[in-house]
Formats: sequence, C-alpha cells, structure tokens
Amino acid sequence: MRDLLLRWFAANGRDLPWRRTRDPYAILVSEVMLQQTQVARVVPRYLEWLERWPTVAALAAASTADVLRDWQGLGYNRRALNLQRAAREVAANGWPDDLTRLPGVGPYTAAAVGCFAFERAELPVDVNVRRVRERTGSEFDHTCAQALMDLGATVCLARVPRCGECPLTAVCPSRGRRFEPERKQGRFEGSFRQRRARALRSILDGCDPADAAAVAALAADGLVQVEGGVVSPPA
Ligand code: ADE
Repeated sequence: MRDLLLRWFAANGRDLPWRRTRDPYAILVSEVMLQQTQVARVVPRYLEWLERWPTVAALAAASTADVLRDWQGLGYNRRALNLQRAAREVAANGWPDDLTRLPGVGPYTAAAVGCFAFERAELPVDVNVRRVRERTGSEFDHTCAQALMDLGATVCLARVPRCGECPLTAVCPSRGRRFEPERKQGRFEGSFRQRRARALRSILDGCDPADAAAVAALAADGLVQVEGGVVSPPA
C-alpha cells in the first residue's frame, strides 16, 4: 500500500507552498492556519504572512494588535494570539523538544511540525489521514503523511470516495463503500463566534464594541484587554 500511495503522490500530489520548506516556523504557521481553514484559503494568507513576518523573531517583535489585524478573515482569532505567544517562547528559549509545550500546539500540530520540519518519525493524524487509515486498515509510516493528506482530501472523500481514481483500490477492503455524512462545524452566520469576530474587528479598528457578552468572551481568552471599562487590543 505504501509504495502504491507514494507513487501516486509523486504524480498527483498538490504543490503547496509549505511543502517547499523545512523551516519549522513556516511549517508551524501553515499548520496553525490549516487547523480550521481550507487549503485554498490558506495558501495566499500563508504567503502574505511569511512576507510580513518571515521569522520567529519578526513575529515575536510585532505588536499583538497588528498580528490580530493580519489574521482577520481566517477565523478563530485565538490561533493568532497563540501563534505569536509560541513565537515569543521560541525567540526566547529556542524550539522545545516537546512541541506541545508551545501555546496552541496540540498533539496533531506537534507531530506535523516534528515530521515536516524536524524529520521525526511521527505521523501527524488529521481527519484525512485517520479516514484513509481506517478504510484501508493500514498504518502507514511518517513518510506517507503528505500523501495521506492529499489522498484523503482529493480521492478518499468522507461521504462518497472516488475509488475509481484511487491508487489503493485493488487492495482496499472498503472499496466501493458509501459513508454517512460526518458532523460539520456549526454555522458561522448568526453564531456567537460571528459576534466575537465582529466585536474584535471593531476593537482593532478603534471603535467601541456594543456587544458586552462577546467582549467578555474575548477578554477571557486574552484577545482584548478591559481596563476601567475601556476595551483595547492586547499590548
Ligand atoms: N492540512 C493540514 N496540514 C496539511 C498539509 N501539510 N498539507 C495539506 N493539508 C494539510
């Protein structure tokens, strides 16, 4: 299975900008952006981000308000705050062995940075990788990570897999099966997440946000500061 997969990937893999680097900072930026945002939306934002903040030192030295402003539109603003906290930690103390000690870095992101930047033998298991592993019943090693992500994203789709285009079709025990829809992320329109995003945007624009509950939630996450009733971006 591994050889079939890797041969397919060599011919059909997506040419994504974070696959052209081993820089752990660039890879961390890509993985944090990809945590909840689609690949096609991440690509231009990733390139712009690295142009503006090309290194850990540059991001660590930036003002948090600028970082949050630059993140607008990617959603889940706490990711930007944690990314900068991680950059400040790395700027001060270097990359830790245990990457999960960095803010915002869980086991998946740690494995992805470990695998793609530090060439560790760890397979980062995201939803696509998990699905391919479950359907094929094959474990795959870390050298298959990017190939598994692409197979899961373009061929081994969640509900109606394209088995006719799959390099593993002849050896896959799940060939031809259909699957129940996976649970989707909740709607953004009308959600509390949307209210939070709006409130943060007005604060970054220097306006007074009217939504007290959204401001309280932002403050609890450290995304804004409230002092004497005055709301401002974090220092
Ligand atoms: N999703 C998360 N990490 C990814 C990567 N490195 N390539 C493509 N999709 C991803």
